[in-house]
Amino acid sequence: MIDASTRLIALIGHPVEHSLSPRMHNVIYRHMDINGVYMAFDVLPENVGQAVHGFRALQIRGFNVTVPHKQAVMPYLDATDRTASVIGAVNTVVNDSGVLTGYNTDSSGFMRSLEYRGIDVRGRDVLLLGAGGAARAVATALAMHGAGRVTIANRTPDKAAALADDINNYVGGSVCSGAPLSDIGSISCPYMLVNATSAGMWPHVESCPLPADYDLSGVAVAYDLIYNPERTLLLKKAEEHGCMPVNGLDMLIWQAIEAIGIWFDIEVKYELALKGIKNIEN
Ligand code: ATR
Repeated sequence: MIDASTRLIALIGHPVEHSLSPRMHNVIYRHMDINGVYMAFDVLPENVGQAVHGFRALQIRGFNVTVPHKQAVMPYLDATDRTASVIGAVNTVVNDSGVLTGYNTDSSGFMRSLEYRGIDVRGRDVLLLGAGGAARAVATALAMHGAGRVTIANRTPDKAAALADDINNYVGGSVCSGAPLSDIGSISCPYMLVNATSAGMWPHVESCPLPADYDLSGVAVAYDLIYNPERTLLLKKAEEHGCMPVNGLDMLIWQAIEAIGIWFDIEVKYELALKGIKNIEN
């Protein structure tokens, strides 16, 4: 029941109408007796500062930030944790007595999703496709947790090289290098392949970021950050070669679990969050 003590958690992005987060969070809050409500707000880029000032005035407990505001929101916060600073993007903000602190739970959520599935990347080589915001969160997480060599392959090679340099200079832990996406056939078989490009995302479901002749045999884990569709062409190919497939619902779920931990100091079970996303109430 919504009453005078109900805490508001917001999501700001543009657009936000297709976000699965409100459904997932509200199911979790109901099941875990959290007196909170999660609402999505479509905020235009020029209004991000005003939205944050409004949240301060309303003293809401926190908010999530999605595309395209993850960087733009940072100047309006009072503090940023180290991971979010290194990534240069915030997706979760907590309000502690008027002090707004930004976190990046995309990154911590990615690592939690690996732990949950018993995937240990320490000292192991990873091939990361893409060099945008999602790839940056994943590369930072991998380096912070001591993955072996991380090769970042991108359609625009300069962006891959720049991201690899940033990781080597500001994070350390792993040795990162950049490569053109078209050249990955020559990269020796990684333990894990991560797709952080949007190739294969609905409605372009016939698209696959891997070159047609890329040999997946020997790759243990194929993680596609795309969740719509849940089985991309890349994951179908990976399964045919005996790789463990992981789709983007896992990262979506674990970034939410991490955020709820920050706001309410509560640990949510994966299965409950999955039910929330799938709209299964019981
Ligand atoms: P996100 O925040 O989801 O990471 P983004 O920052 O726009 O989104 O990054 C999208 C990534 O997908 C980029 O690495 C992009 O490659 P470019 O840097 O060359 O643009 C990649 N990408 C998008 N469409 C692609 C396609 N059809 N094939 C290969 N890579 C693609």
